[in-house]
Amino acid sequence: MAKKLRIGVLASGGGTNLQSIIDGCTNGDIDGQIVVVISNNPEAGALNRATNAGLTTECINHRNFSQRQLFDNAVVQKLLDNRVELVVLAGFMRIIGQQFLDAFPGRIINIHPALLPAFPGLHVQQKAIDYGARFSGCTVHFVDGGVDTGPIIIQAVVPILDTDNDDTLSARILDQEHKIYPQAIQWFAQGKLKVDGRKVSIIGHTQKPDAVLINPPLNS
Ligand code: GAR
Repeated sequence: MAKKLRIGVLASGGGTNLQSIIDGCTNGDIDGQIVVVISNNPEAGALNRATNAGLTTECINHRNFSQRQLFDNAVVQKLLDNRVELVVLAGFMRIIGQQFLDAFPGRIINIHPALLPAFPGLHVQQKAIDYGARFSGCTVHFVDGGVDTGPIIIQAVVPILDTDNDDTLSARILDQEHKIYPQAIQWFAQGKLKVDGRKVSIIGHTQKPDAVLINPPLNS
């Protein structure tokens, strides 16, 4: 059997994306194994999910560090200790510093609950509603030195309904996050992602030119 990609997941919150990756590794959708789950938040539901799945967990509380660099160093060391090959940010609410990036060049990916480059940063579901956008969605991208600016791997689009609030839109987006993140990780595990500047291509993957969405729908 082919060697499994060694995945390290960083999560700060409830961990539903982590769960989708755990499930993907278990059911064979991802040719990988999660070798460590790290959280900066001792209360993170992600840590419980990881424990329930029998995974190695580490809580590295950023509040215990006087500088971000020192926190980053501690996280990087844990990832190196566990011989992590791909760092997966799954609702990780800390910014990654340059030395962290340099430790895993081209090997850190993130999921963001908006259609980048629109709405980077925080509270983006509400921002998309307030803007009056007709669509939002989610984006998996490589992490670079900016905030939510790295090369885009895959996106899913969801309509924004007139009746939406932050919770309903976030839930609709989250459902799609759970589909596209395992897929992106599998492409990475298979060595199918080719990065050329800002552009990512998926080797051998066919695209659909008629994958058009219109919201609100046309009359006919
Ligand atoms: C997800 O919606 C993820 O896209 C977002 O946090 C949520 C985590 O949910 N990430 C960011 O906003 C990163 N800036 P989860 O803990 O249930 O996976």
